[in-house]
Amino acid sequence: MSERIHIFDTTLRDGEQSPGATMNQREKVRLARQLERLGVDIIEAGFPAASPGDFEAVQAIAGAVSNCRVAGLCRSMKADIERCYEAIKGAAAPRIHTFIATSPLHMQYKLRKEPHQVLEMAKDAVTFAKSLCADVEFSAEDASRSEREFLGRVVETAIDAGATVINIPDTVGYAQPEEFGDLIRWLLENVRNSHKAVFSVHCHNDLGLAAANTLAALKAGARQAEVTLSGIGERAGNCSVEEVVMALRVRHDLYGLETGIQTEQLYPSCRLLSRIIGMPIPPYKAIVGRNAFAHESGIHQDGMLKNRQTYEIMTPQSIGRSGTDIVLGKHSGRNALTAKLKELGFNLSDEQTVTVFDAVKRLADKKKQIFDEDVEALVLEEIYRIPDKHALKALSVLSGNMGVPPTAAVVMETDGQEKKLSGFGMGPVDAVFNTISEIVGIKPKLLEYLVSAVTGGTDAQGEVTVRIELNGQSAVGRSSDGDIIVASAKAYLNALNRLAKKEEKKEWAVL
Ligand code: KIV
Ligand code: ZN
Repeated sequence: MSERIHIFDTTLRDGEQSPGATMNQREKVRLARQLERLGVDIIEAGFPAASPGDFEAVQAIAGAVSNCRVAGLCRSMKADIERCYEAIKGAAAPRIHTFIATSPLHMQYKLRKEPHQVLEMAKDAVTFAKSLCADVEFSAEDASRSEREFLGRVVETAIDAGATVINIPDTVGYAQPEEFGDLIRWLLENVRNSHKAVFSVHCHNDLGLAAANTLAALKAGARQAEVTLSGIGERAGNCSVEEVVMALRVRHDLYGLETGIQTEQLYPSCRLLSRIIGMPIPPYKAIVGRNAFAHESGIHQDGMLKNRQTYEIMTPQSIGRSGTDIVLGKHSGRNALTAKLKELGFNLSDEQTVTVFDAVKRLADKKKQIFDEDVEALVLEEIYRIPDKHALKALSVLSGNMGVPPTAAVVMETDGQEKKLSGFGMGPVDAVFNTISEIVGIKPKLLEYLVSAVTGGTDAQGEVTVRIELNGQSAVGRSSDGDIIVASAKAYLNALNRLAKKEEKKEWAVL
């Protein structure tokens, strides 16, 4: 009989630590609900002690999901643990996840503690966490670079103190699959009380081995995998949920392990994340990239026509990709849209569906074919947009090569007040950004400006991503519109709104 692996998703915590991947509370709750639909066992909702914003987001997630556990991360410190428990206690099944580093490097330079002090802190942290919450996970940060004997002692102590899950992170993506599997096997065999806890792994992708290391550890006996959607996370990211889950499914013959993941929700979940954080999924990304099921070479196409299994080890449908591109048009009805929304992983109320339906109809007046990406862009635009501090009311732009400087006239609402101004720039987008900056009274540095067509054709919606920085804080804004100048203005405002939100947030002290 197959053994069950627990999938612990940390997109909302480690994933959010990925540069530029900040999400607001509404977006986090939206993503948490999708993770629940995906069937993850545990959602790590955030790091409550990091900032009031993080605390509130974790609390909101704890109240919003009911079919999976909700974990909060905290350092091995009483105040952090208390704050964490406050945030998650409303969850149907709360988990405190506390950690401390155990490698010589981290103990000496980061913590400035002796090993015996770290051991004591781990014990106190787990004991205290256990007094608040029945489910306690303990992580030995930088475990893969820790001395085995010491790591074993810390793990044993944490289990004796009441830890139900022991997580062994490869924090800097240093481990190699065989070696990492061996470490897990060694801990399971040599730690006296290892049978009393579930062993978990948390692998980073610095050498591109996060999924390989995770699979090696599962083969060796770990029963929880810590993962993120599309592998986002610190530096080169974390282990991708889609890679581990599909490897276990496609190679069930080898692993004999199962997960509770609804694999048809993998693609919709990764797409949703990509839309929320404004970062496209790389086309060559395993499982969920645009090219993952594309066959270019003649030999491959020929093989595919004869038997799909010649070049496909899984079907696009098995991960929730329809395999067809065109879906809706001017004459499509509400039922077609409702079915499409479901396929894309959106669970909207009737009222929200009507709002999107109206937007689809408006768009269908401007372009012939409405693709999946168009529908997603509209849903996120109409339903999940952050409440704006700054909102665009009207925009007109003059540009050309007649010697008149490109000019923008902007009408905006800032904190409920209408403001109008016109200004110039090197080009139309520059004129729009300058005028908006003048109105809001700040001039952030533009780090990145990216325009792409959401779909093909000259009538495609333009999707604009803008990355800005002010006083060391950066923010990404994204928007789409049939007019790329309007999309640019909205993306810039979206970034300014996110920047305003971030000001409330303290820098993370650790990790
Ligand atoms: O990478 C890491 O070590 C972590 C731990 C806090 C689990 O993210
Ligand atoms: Zn990590």
